[in-house]
Amino acid sequence: MPKVLFINGPNLNMLGVREKEYYGSQTLEEINTSLSSMAAQKGVAAEFFQSNHEGELVDRIQQGYGKVDCIIINPGALTHYSIALYDALKLLQVPVIEIHLSNIYARESFRNKSLISPLAVGGIFGLGPIGYNLALEAACQLLEKE
Ligand code: DQA
Repeated sequence: MPKVLFINGPNLNMLGVREKEYYGSQTLEEINTSLSSMAAQKGVAAEFFQSNHEGELVDRIQQGYGKVDCIIINPGALTHYSIALYDALKLLQVPVIEIHLSNIYARESFRNKSLISPLAVGGIFGLGPIGYNLALEAACQLLEKE
């Protein structure tokens, strides 16, 4: 069974509370529950990891080496400045799909640049929590092709 690893970066544990106008009212747990059942229907194994710490995210990504077939990542603020995360994702050599709940191109200028996008096969932004489901759909289609 193909394995998809969902990674969420800093402050995404506060979904449902944090800036609802950008991020909606669903909690990360609710989002992950919906993704788990979608993954089960699609016949893929989904794993979930969230951390507020860059090093923990790097460690978790490294642990996926040779074990994970696709990564779906919302790196939070690390999107905009983490070379360490970029390097960790690159080393896995599996498709990376980037997702943002908000439209990072329609907000403060410091959010307009993603260091992760150049290594992603594709990305979804601005569509709220459904973006994670769309990313999973894309992952399933990519993995079928491989
Ligand atoms: C975010 C956008 C980032 O700029 C921000 O720092 C986040 C969430 C999003 O999902 O829209 O934490 O990645």
